[in-house]
Amino acid sequence: MRISIIGAGNVGRALAQAFIRHGEEVYLGVPVPEKYQSTAAALGPLAKLGTVAQAVAASEVVILAVPFTATRAIVSSVADWQGKVLVDATNPLAPGLAGLTVGTTISAAEQIAGWAPTAKVVKAFNTTGAENMADAAFPQGLPFMPVCGDDAQARAKVIALASLIGFEAVDLGPLSAARYVEPFAMTWIHMAFKQGLGRKFAFGLLRKD
Ligand SMILES: NC(=O)c1ccc[n+]([C@@H]2O[C@H](COP(=O)([O-])OP(=O)(O)OC[C@H]3O[C@@H](n4cnc5c(N)ncnc54)[C@H](OP(=O)(O)O)[C@@H]3O)[C@@H](O)[C@H]2O)c1
Repeated sequence: MRISIIGAGNVGRALAQAFIRHGEEVYLGVPVPEKYQSTAAALGPLAKLGTVAQAVAASEVVILAVPFTATRAIVSSVADWQGKVLVDATNPLAPGLAGLTVGTTISAAEQIAGWAPTAKVVKAFNTTGAENMADAAFPQGLPFMPVCGDDAQARAKVIALASLIGFEAVDLGPLSAARYVEPFAMTWIHMAFKQGLGRKFAFGLLRKD
């Protein structure tokens, strides 16, 4: 399967590395492709690079790995998202990581769904650091990756992708669960940066049966 990723920064690159390591082809879409030629070259022959429009056209699954503030313009630049699974990996962060600008009676993901009404929007890949997405291996077990969205088949596709790259991907049901998934990401950010835990940790899911 080919996966398109809008944005080639920390998260775009990390997810691209992980998918490529597992044999998937990745299409990176950025405003100025020339800027990311060496990034794409370093990812190897399974990485393609182009404009946002080219990346959206290239795959059924399109991951948004951009600042949340850029999402409305990106999503609105596409005439019709029909047939696309649009994965929202963003967090609506306030400047200086001071908190979230959206929540808890609405979420960034639901806003994106409102701007792309024909897309099957799924929230995922927002609750852990980029380096954990590049390499999800932990000695204690699989890191937890919550996934939510209103279309069950789209959710299943994203759960399969997250599982492929080493997460315990858990189905959280409807997209409105992003109201909880986004503050959960803020918990990771708070622990990493405000509480001094650093970036080398992830959340896991413990079960009694
Ligand atoms: N970093 C993490 O550990 C982490 C973890 C989970 C979730 N997130 C979330 O993931 C998102 C990306 O974070 P990041 O750390 O990867 O950011 P980043 O390193 O700053 O990269 C952002 C990428 O988005 C691109 N971009 C910006 N505006 C764009 C537009 N209008 N159209 C297309 N591409 C555009 C940038 O391209 P240019 O360089 O050309 O501007 C860049 O490639 C954020 O919403 C963040 O909250 C981050």
